[in-house]
Amino acid sequence: MNKERVFSGIQPSGSITIGNYIGALSNFKEFQDDFDCLYCIVDMHSLSNEQKPSELRKNTLDLLALYLAAGLNPEKSTVFIQSHVPAHAELQWVLNSVVSVGHLERMTQYKDKAQKQSGSIPATLLNYPILMAADILLYQAKYVPVGEDQKQHIEITRDIAERFNYRYSDTFVLPEIILSKSGKRIMSLQDPTVKMSKSDENPNGSIRLLDSPDDVRRKLKRAVTDSLGNFDYNDEQLGLKNLIDIYSAFTKETVEDIVNFYKDLGYGRFKSDLGEIIAEEVRDIQVEYNNYISDKAQLEKIYREGAEKASYMAEKTLRKVYKKVGFVAR
Ligand code: AMP
Ligand code: TRP
Repeated sequence: MNKERVFSGIQPSGSITIGNYIGALSNFKEFQDDFDCLYCIVDMHSLSNEQKPSELRKNTLDLLALYLAAGLNPEKSTVFIQSHVPAHAELQWVLNSVVSVGHLERMTQYKDKAQKQSGSIPATLLNYPILMAADILLYQAKYVPVGEDQKQHIEITRDIAERFNYRYSDTFVLPEIILSKSGKRIMSLQDPTVKMSKSDENPNGSIRLLDSPDDVRRKLKRAVTDSLGNFDYNDEQLGLKNLIDIYSAFTKETVEDIVNFYKDLGYGRFKSDLGEIIAEEVRDIQVEYNNYISDKAQLEKIYREGAEKASYMAEKTLRKVYKKVGFVAR
């Protein structure tokens, strides 16, 4: 009866990309039958960079509709919005006490993002990994399907859990990362040395799940490759390598088969085929997305029920934690 838990989340800070889809979202549904899954829209994490309130609200509902469109079934998985379950913030506060500021300052994502800030650095950016640890530990999740960029965050989560367990006796399950087989890290179509990101200012660098099929084809045509002209998969041809990874993620064909097939056909044909493949997949997702997003009452029902189920599980852990650290029970 007791299935192991899976937890993952995506931030609603922008419109999600095929990087998010390949690295995370498209894998979520695979766990639904064999695990007790929680899939969260981590809106509180989005406050680590500036958000327009109306956009955050819209992106949150869009992301919920996209979760459903990507095959998440609320009858099987707990699908919810992070800010609806106050235990995330409550556990985070307690976990703050087992993490050093020095450790947080050494996190790669923090260093990258802090450097890019033009003004002062919000404390939410520094504390981001502790909130993420709280998300995972609150549900005693064993597995966390995410992209490779989140590896360090899973490591710090384990570290936090170990420290807490050591100080207060065994409390938390130590979670493990699950990386998708292909496309652990999808790169920008305009600069294959940086990751494809929701917040990329160059619209041609990323393909969004809600891009029109025409935009998808156009962005693919413009995708940066190289002037070597030989169709191969290697680190000298990062642009092409990234496109082959994307092709492989969408079609499940092996890199070897793809290279063999396109070897004599050339970049142009490959890019145009890939454009069609992605355009078709996003079109299918968008049909589903449109059904869900146009029924606000149904979305509301789903996120309310999700929050209720999640709260029940979260409260159980939080009560245990509060007792262990010495808070007086209400
Ligand atoms: P985020 O956009 O930071 O909220 O990421 C949500 C999920 O998508 C996480 O599991 C990330 O690891 C994954 N992800 C984000 N960008 C990429 C990318 N370019 N390639 C692969 N996975 C990604
Ligand atoms: N930090 C993750 C990202 O940017 C999002 C996230 C927040 C998350 N909490 C999580 C992912 C818990 C997995 C589990 O991609």
